Amino acid sequence: MDMNSINIEEIVKQVLSGMAGNSASAAPAAASAPAAGGEIPKVAHVAMLTGLEHFDVKEFPMPEVGDDDILVRVEGCGVCGTDAHEFKRDPFGLIPVALGHEGTGEIVKMGKNVKKDSAGKELKLGDKVVTCMIFKDDPDITMFDLNKQNVGGADVYGLLPDDDIHLNGWFSDYILIRKGSTVFNVSDLDLDSRILIEPCAVLVHAVERAKTTNILRFNSRVVVQGCGPIGLICIAVLRTMGVENITAVDGNEMRLNFAKEMGATETVNFTQHQGIEALAGAVKDSFGGHLADFAFQCTGSPVAHSNIYKFIRNGGGLCELGFFINGGDATINPHFDICSKEITTVGSWVYTLRDYATTFDFLKRAKGIGLPMEKLITHRFALEDINEALKTNLEMKGLKIAIVNDSKNR
Ligand SMILES: NC(=O)c1ccc[n+]([C@@H]2O[C@H](COP(=O)([O-])OP(=O)(O)OC[C@H]3O[C@@H](n4cnc5c(N)ncnc54)[C@H](O)[C@@H]3O)[C@@H](O)[C@H]2O)c1
Ligand SMILES: [Zn+2]
Repeated sequence: MDMNSINIEEIVKQVLSGMAGNSASAAPAAASAPAAGGEIPKVAHVAMLTGLEHFDVKEFPMPEVGDDDILVRVEGCGVCGTDAHEFKRDPFGLIPVALGHEGTGEIVKMGKNVKKDSAGKELKLGDKVVTCMIFKDDPDITMFDLNKQNVGGADVYGLLPDDDIHLNGWFSDYILIRKGSTVFNVSDLDLDSRILIEPCAVLVHAVERAKTTNILRFNSRVVVQGCGPIGLICIAVLRTMGVENITAVDGNEMRLNFAKEMGATETVNFTQHQGIEALAGAVKDSFGGHLADFAFQCTGSPVAHSNIYKFIRNGGGLCELGFFINGGDATINPHFDICSKEITTVGSWVYTLRDYATTFDFLKRAKGIGLPMEKLITHRFALEDINEALKTNLEMKGLKIAIVNDSKNR
């Protein structure tokens, strides 16, 4: 089911229920009353990407909330690499589009049929939520069916074609969550943690994929190559699992220092080693003369993919997760790199719904063991400054850039 047919259905439903004298405003008071935060305004503000490298914050009428819908007052939303690609080049051909898929906020109104989230937890006004996927081909899919399957190919708020409602992305002050969406009650997580859920789910999934090799163990020596948000969160997930022998590889000293704060035991700056033999030697030295048992490739660089095999011992394992989009071909030597060393490799892409739910627990555990997760969000911008936020992301000035609506939280 695509979003346009949902809208038409909604409109037909509203017209019919209006004719029967049973309009949305006649829904039970408890379900339609505004949240403690006050009245719901008449208009919503949505940052629409209206041209390349240009957002306009537009006003739209606050939509009707159907029986299966949830109106959420947005608190914040992370800026993702995908948003940056869309901002610069519109590879998905979506302009004009309401972007923002790493968002979270508070339920201010919900339809009478909405009772539970996608994990079976109750939903009520004032609860804090995040969304995951919209299963356009199979709206009846549940998180438990997807235990072994990732959710690539489904729709997601923040990357939908524009429609008559317009409140389709999390770079906004209100979003309308419609029937068929996956939504999770995450009221027990603070705002920063909720903004980090989506990228963290990528790493929970990657580590689950790595575990299927049976090589990643309690005392494993692990290389994490690339210390952007993805590599840094990878280190955090490994730490919450009790893996403590981690070498981080990057060319940026600030990021390598942060990798240490996140729990890496050693760091290797690849710019300080000429040639792959010297670089592999530095990784070996970092483990006291041993190569790694397991490696996570967290850069989008084909050269980095070619290099990483040299860091891994015979019989070791590799998880490649650095290429969310096509980054080109990489050269390897099949004999030396894979065959004679008997390397076990897994690829990892996005996550399952089950991983999403696991991520909520991961975030609590990370805080519990003192990992500085909140420091991953280095910049917080107001919605009206979204163009600057995207530029900051493209200039790679910080780590995670976020739009945060309430100035008290910035
Ligand atoms: N598998 C998935 O589902 C998934 C999801 C999200 C992102 N990704 C991918 O993960 C990658 C990393 O994401 P990010 O947000 O952390 O990106 P980022 O660009 O912020 O970080 C990449 C880091 O890799 C470092 N790097 C570059 N070349 C290197 C090399 N040869 N050796 C060591 N380090 C090197 C850079 O200095 C940088 O710090 C991206 O390419 C993205 O496409 C994958
Ligand atoms: Zn993302």
